[in-house]
Amino acid sequence: MYITDFAGRTAFVTGGASGIGLGIAKVLAQRGARVVIADLRSDHIDNALAQFAGGGRSNAVTALQLDVTSREAYAEAAARMQADFGGIDILVNNAGVGLEGPVLQATYADYDFGFGVNIGGVINGFVSFMPQMIAHGRGGHIVSTASLAAEVVMPAHLAIYAASKAAVCHYCEAVKDELGSHGLGVSILLPGPIKSNIHQAQQNRPEHLRIGSGFGESEAQLAQRQVGDSWMEPEEVGNMVADGILANRTYIVTHGIFKDWQRARAQAVLDATPDVADAAVRGI
Ligand SMILES: NC(=O)c1ccc[n+]([C@@H]2O[C@H](COP(=O)([O-])OP(=O)(O)OC[C@H]3O[C@@H](n4cnc5c(N)ncnc54)[C@H](O)[C@@H]3O)[C@@H](O)[C@H]2O)c1
Repeated sequence: MYITDFAGRTAFVTGGASGIGLGIAKVLAQRGARVVIADLRSDHIDNALAQFAGGGRSNAVTALQLDVTSREAYAEAAARMQADFGGIDILVNNAGVGLEGPVLQATYADYDFGFGVNIGGVINGFVSFMPQMIAHGRGGHIVSTASLAAEVVMPAHLAIYAASKAAVCHYCEAVKDELGSHGLGVSILLPGPIKSNIHQAQQNRPEHLRIGSGFGESEAQLAQRQVGDSWMEPEEVGNMVADGILANRTYIVTHGIFKDWQRARAQAVLDATPDVADAAVRGI
C-alpha cells in the first residue's frame, strides 16, 4: 500500500534541520504528516524548531540529534520510532555533505567522510528502518537525496561527492521492485542548485576525520561561498518531493540545466556498448 495521503503518517527526515531537508519537513508537515527531524547539528535543530513554532505546527514536529554514520545511534533512533509511533511511514535519507577538494591530495579521511555520510548514512537508514516499515504493514515510502552530480561527468575536485551520490542512485534503483512488493515506494531526489548550508561541510566533519585531511584549505574556501539568489528555494523542492512520493516517482529531478551533459554521458556509455547481436554470438 503506497502513500496516497500524508495525514496521520510519520516521516523521519535526516538532515532535516537545514536546507533541502528542512524544506521537505515543512511541506510534509503542511500536508498533514507528523515529522521527526533527525540532524547532526543542534544549532540547526534549534533554528528549525523555531521556524515551526506557532500556528499549531510545532505539535506535528519533533527533533532528535543523530549522526547518520553511527549505526548504534541509528538503531536506537529506529527503536524509539517504533516505541513512539508504531514505526515510521516515510524515511527521507537526506543528510549529506558537499565535500570537495583536490583529488590528488585527498586522503582516506576525506574518502571516509564523504562516503561515510553520503552513502553510509543512506544505507544505515535503509537497514535501520526497512524491517519496521515492512513489519507494520501500513506501506510507506523511502526517498533518498542523491544529486544531479551523479548523472553527469563531474570535475575531479568533486569525484568523491559524485561517486558517493551515484552509489545512492544505483542502490535505490536496484531495491525499488523488491521493496515495492512489500508496499514501500522508493524515490531518488536529484537536486540541482538549491539554497542551503551545504557549503558548511567543514563544520559537519568529525574531529577524527579532520586529522590528515587533504581538503582543509578547499573546505575553508567553500565555507565562504555565497548562496546564489537564483538557486531554488528548499520548500519548492519539498513540494516536488511530496508530489513524487504520492506518485511513487523513481526520479525527482529539480532542474533541467544539466540535461545536455546527462545525455552526453548516457550516450557515451551506449556508444561504447556492443550491439545485442554481438552478445547473442557469445551465447549470453
Ligand atoms: N544544495 C544543493 O544545491 C544540493 C544539490 C544536490 C544535492 N544536494 C544534497 O542535498 C542534501 C541536503 O543538503 P543541503 O544542500 O540541504 O545542505 P545543508 O547543509 O543545508 O543540510 C544538510 C543537513 O544535514 C546535516 N548533516 C550533515 N552531516 C550529518 C550527519 N552525519 N548526520 C546527520 N545529519 C547530518 C547538517 O547538519 C545539515 O543540517 C545532501 O545530501 C546534499 O548532498 C544538495
